[in-house]
Amino acid sequence: MARTAGRVGHDELATLKLVALDGALDASNQTASRRLQRLEDADYVEREMTGDGQLVAVTGTGERALQREYADYRRLFEGDADVALSGTVTSGMGEGRHYISLPGYMRQFRERLGYEPYEGTLNVDLDDGSVRDRARMDALAPIDIDGWADEDRTYGPAYCWPARVERADASGEGERNDASGDGDRYDAAHVIAPERTHHGDDQLEVIAPDRLRDELHLADGDTLTIHVSEQ
Ligand code: CDP
Repeated sequence: MARTAGRVGHDELATLKLVALDGALDASNQTASRRLQRLEDADYVEREMTGDGQLVAVTGTGERALQREYADYRRLFEGDADVALSGTVTSGMGEGRHYISLPGYMRQFRERLGYEPYEGTLNVDLDDGSVRDRARMDALAPIDIDGWADEDRTYGPAYCWPARVERADASGEGERNDASGDGDRYDAAHVIAPERTHHGDDQLEVIAPDRLRDELHLADGDTLTIHVSEQ
């Protein structure tokens, strides 16, 4: 696992789990109160004092820490930590093409993903369940794409995860026509996301060496399942 909680110890994580499960904790006990303080210092929880006690809420950072624990247990008991997300193909505003083609990113795609992506991103509108499950994807170890700058401006860092893209209506009997997939399935893609994701983000962007709309015969509104895995 490339990223670990780091800033808090196992005792604090156990306390965080209790807070997430119960939405409450008896902080009159000194040990619990110390752990809560550390969690707050690390921005894993937010606290609000009320007349007769305090309200404790898990933050986005805290949730990601719990998701990493969850991914570890999945790996332990289920052998892998893949996350399947589904949604429909949609068109964006042509921004993907611009960003993917920038030399500072392209160089890193070549080195770290092993290919030059088709210049664009395939946008997928996630269904409601997958918007929730997306947080599990954020807990998988990503391939880091570094931020960089040219004379005019800076470009932010991003994360990539290996992904297999499948048409949801795939029969599984499609003819295998090349190494990348079988016409219903494309194995060698990546999900790409800016390092600072927006909470509740309901779109996924996919890059690949080929134009996925051609490879998988996709039109807007078609349903896909994207199996995201670790680096
Ligand atoms: O216009 P939009 O923001 O949706 O797209 P873009 O990122 O500029 O990409 C150009 C077109 O290629 C769009 O229709 C994408 O859906 C498609 N695309 C694809 O089929 N496969 C990829 N690997 C990347 C983009």
